[in-house]
Amino acid sequence: MHKRIQSQSIILEPAYINDFIDDFVNNKVSSMPNDISLNYKLTSLNPRAFVDEEHIGECLNVMIKNAIEAIEAIEANDGASGIINILTEVINDWVIISIHDNGIGMEKEIQSKIFEAFYTTKTGDNNWGIGLSYVKQIIDIHNGNTVVESSKHKGTTIKIMLPLIM
Ligand SMILES: Nc1ncnc2c1ncn2[C@@H]1O[C@H](COP(=O)(O)OP(=O)(O)O)[C@@H](O)[C@H]1O
Ligand SMILES: [Mg+2]
Repeated sequence: MHKRIQSQSIILEPAYINDFIDDFVNNKVSSMPNDISLNYKLTSLNPRAFVDEEHIGECLNVMIKNAIEAIEAIEANDGASGIINILTEVINDWVIISIHDNGIGMEKEIQSKIFEAFYTTKTGDNNWGIGLSYVKQIIDIHNGNTVVESSKHKGTTIKIMLPLIM
């Protein structure tokens, strides 16, 4: 999945983040199971940030895939319906893109490791633990930050913070 993207150089260009998210959700999401709804809510401030849209899109797909897997880990038990919400906000000098899911969540100890390369709690053949370390590398190149907020059995929010163009 990442090979094609990683071999490409990163080109940062100013972008309207709401337009980017709108286009991404409507045209570029890899795949969404029927029983999980993907919604988004955009800030009224119409912020801009320097982004490489292809790489940030790949980051969003990594986070959405993790959200789907976290929801499916619950659904195997009780059939709860899955929700993934994407939110844009402006806080101080940052544009923040949050991906929230009502999946299985994580304990603090797991949260502290998720951005490390090859860290995984999953047993799937395609889960090598490289998704979020790729995300962190890409966001670092954007001079941004990655944040995790999660409670076990309640859900998870992963935030990517990008410097706001003033
Ligand atoms: N949305 C999420 N909900 C619960 N746990 C998550 C979520 N996203 C990531 N994780 C945890 O972080 C770990 C690392 O994620 P990632 O780097 O994408 O690797 P992988 O998905 O291959 O395990 C996962 O194994 C899982 O434990
Ligand atoms: Mg993953």
